[in-house]
Amino acid sequence: MDAITLLTERGSSPQLTFPGPTEAQLSQIVEAGLRAPDHGGLTPWEFLISEGEGLNRLGDILFEAAKANGVEGEQLARARLLPTRAPMVITIISRVKDHPKVPPLEQHLSAGCAAMAMQMAAQAQGLGGMWRTGSYAFDDHVRQALGVRGDDQIIGFLYLGTPKQTPKAKRKLDPSQFLRRL
Ligand SMILES: Cc1cc2nc3c(=O)[nH]c(=O)nc-3n(C[C@H](O)[C@H](O)[C@H](O)COP(=O)(O)O)c2cc1C
Repeated sequence: MDAITLLTERGSSPQLTFPGPTEAQLSQIVEAGLRAPDHGGLTPWEFLISEGEGLNRLGDILFEAAKANGVEGEQLARARLLPTRAPMVITIISRVKDHPKVPPLEQHLSAGCAAMAMQMAAQAQGLGGMWRTGSYAFDDHVRQALGVRGDDQIIGFLYLGTPKQTPKAKRKLDPSQFLRRL
């Protein structure tokens, strides 16, 4: 698939199954993330890979967060299973550095660009992905359990695997509604 087709026709895959990324595919995905635009070369990111038992460990963290927030019953049980909706989840964390010219916002944006690049690198290799946050990305318990402190943010949980369905064709947006010429 050429780059323009990938970018103009990309889509998320909410339902994912096995196989997940191979080591070679993962390595391309990570390389794409590391090529994200990065003002000052601060590499303001960390990618936390969960697969197999790692997905259960991530599920335990979400479960404890839900419990601490008073979630009960079926919804609580569901929290533990959320990461197992895909063979792999990459948690993208922005790691903000002190810099006189690069404010935290720019560093979060860099980490966000890395997330998009990683999702596109997965799709370019025939895989599918879905960028999710939900309330868990902003939850104090989850932040603490994953070692996310201060200005650092959980930018998203990138679910990766083989799409169960071909992404639906999308309504094309009218560019003129979003364009202005100066
Ligand atoms: C920062 C961010 C967080 C997101 N979090 C969620 C989420 O928690 N749950 C969800 O269903 N979609 C979430 N999305 C949206 C999906 O990733 C996806 O973009 C959306 O469903 C539209 O589908 P498309 O990517 O195929 O256009 C998020 C997107 C971004 C950029």
